Amino acid sequence: MASTRPSKRNSRSTSALGSKTLLLPKDLLTVADIPRKKVEGLISLAKKLKAAHGKDKPVFPLKGKTLGLIFEKPSTRTRVSFEAGMNQLGGQALFLASEKIQLSRGESLADTAKVLSRYVDALVVRTFDQSALEEWAQHTSIPVINGLTDHCHPCQALADLLTIVEKKRRAKGLKLAYIGDGNNITHSLLEIGAKVGMHVSVGCPAGYEPDSTIVRQAKAEGIHTGAKIEITHDPLLAAKNADAIYTDVWISMGQEDQQQPRMAAFAPYQVNSQLMKQAKKTAIVLHCLPAHRGEEITAEVLDGPQSVVLDQAENRLHIQKAILLEWLGK
Ligand code: CP
Ligand code: NVA
Repeated sequence: MASTRPSKRNSRSTSALGSKTLLLPKDLLTVADIPRKKVEGLISLAKKLKAAHGKDKPVFPLKGKTLGLIFEKPSTRTRVSFEAGMNQLGGQALFLASEKIQLSRGESLADTAKVLSRYVDALVVRTFDQSALEEWAQHTSIPVINGLTDHCHPCQALADLLTIVEKKRRAKGLKLAYIGDGNNITHSLLEIGAKVGMHVSVGCPAGYEPDSTIVRQAKAEGIHTGAKIEITHDPLLAAKNADAIYTDVWISMGQEDQQQPRMAAFAPYQVNSQLMKQAKKTAIVLHCLPAHRGEEITAEVLDGPQSVVLDQAENRLHIQKAILLEWLGK
């Protein structure tokens, strides 16, 4: 939920895009918090940053700024893309593994958040409960960016949207099929699809559906943007005529003790060449990574010609640079 408390960032215009004043929430906690125009602005800024990457004379708009990264779970892409992105924009990133700071010895989240607000300009937080992320946001005077929770992964969904727009020239009116667990990735995809008018069809086993509140809100928003939101237990139906097929691991971080029931429930939900026959011939294949070949997706599909997963991973860098400019820039 977006912070409603007064913040100097709540009322400022967003110069990085040169757009008219658009309210920017203090924190980036969910896709739902970001106004649609701002999502479009982030995509357009990320495209510009990507085109300029490694070409133009570098400019350092975040010189002197420091980004803290508090991670309570492992990460390759999120950590490295934020650290590299901050570096490319002239700022610095500080990785703060939660077990290496006094949090692990009982210092409160509130005290840690207030102290860090005196040192750094923004925080990326990867944690378990969305409520813990909201607590970070509540106790900081600086922006807090969601680096993944059990509930959602907004930076990932923004990179996914950038990838779809790059590959397909648009997102509105396309069909994205998500096959597998109704998890954090699914939630952010539903939110972003609903926001930009992209149909999202989720094919998942009974008992593993996405959060019903998110589904209800996505359906309600979809009425205005044209996005059709569908939840089905039939993976082939979900994949039918899709422009993009997306999957994620069957066992997310923190669910390792549920291995046995999950492997059994998800076995019919593998993205393989049979399932791909349901999608359009031109469909692209997305996966947030890390992937487990032979489980949620076959090696043949993940490493095949329709897969765009490496571009998708690269796009984490470009979209997050856009996010950093929006939330930390002058
Ligand atoms: N997709 C993603 O967030 O990857 P990491 O867990 O490696 O950051
Ligand atoms: N659903 C996965 C996403 C990893 C990027 C997890 O939470 O582990």
